[in-house]
Amino acid sequence: MRIGIGADHGGFILKKPVIEAIEEMNLEYKDYGTCSEESCDYPDIALKVTSALKDKEIDKAVLLCGTGIGICIAANKVKGIRCAHVTDAFSAQMSAEHNDANIISMGGRITSPEDAKEIVKAYLSAQFAGGRHQRRVDKIKQIENNN
Ligand code: RB5
Repeated sequence: MRIGIGADHGGFILKKPVIEAIEEMNLEYKDYGTCSEESCDYPDIALKVTSALKDKEIDKAVLLCGTGIGICIAANKVKGIRCAHVTDAFSAQMSAEHNDANIISMGGRITSPEDAKEIVKAYLSAQFAGGRHQRRVDKIKQIENNN
């Protein structure tokens, strides 16, 4: 499994722990920037990463901004993207098991590097449960197709 990582300047601080978590799980990652704390716009990063996901360059992704909120909103504007904004490991696990989230987002000004590693590992270890959750995800897709 190949994991995309994208951050704006506010999320940059979490890139290193996120990469560490992915490497400790023996998974591959692909970095879509940014590479410093110089100011940039989170929608640009969200677009790069979601395009890579749609093109199947990557299978899942982690997006980072100051709060994790703006980059999540931007990512969820792209058809087929289910980005979950998470601040704890249980929600990260549930976002994979129940919501089939293909991206999680976190905030560099909210989540500690230690918690970020735990959250990424919980998300990437979990599998979509299907069953009744598939029905609900299908309904999300219907909303997306009809609106
Ligand atoms: C940038 O200052 C900040 O607005 C951004 O990182 C993010 O928190 C937006 O939701």
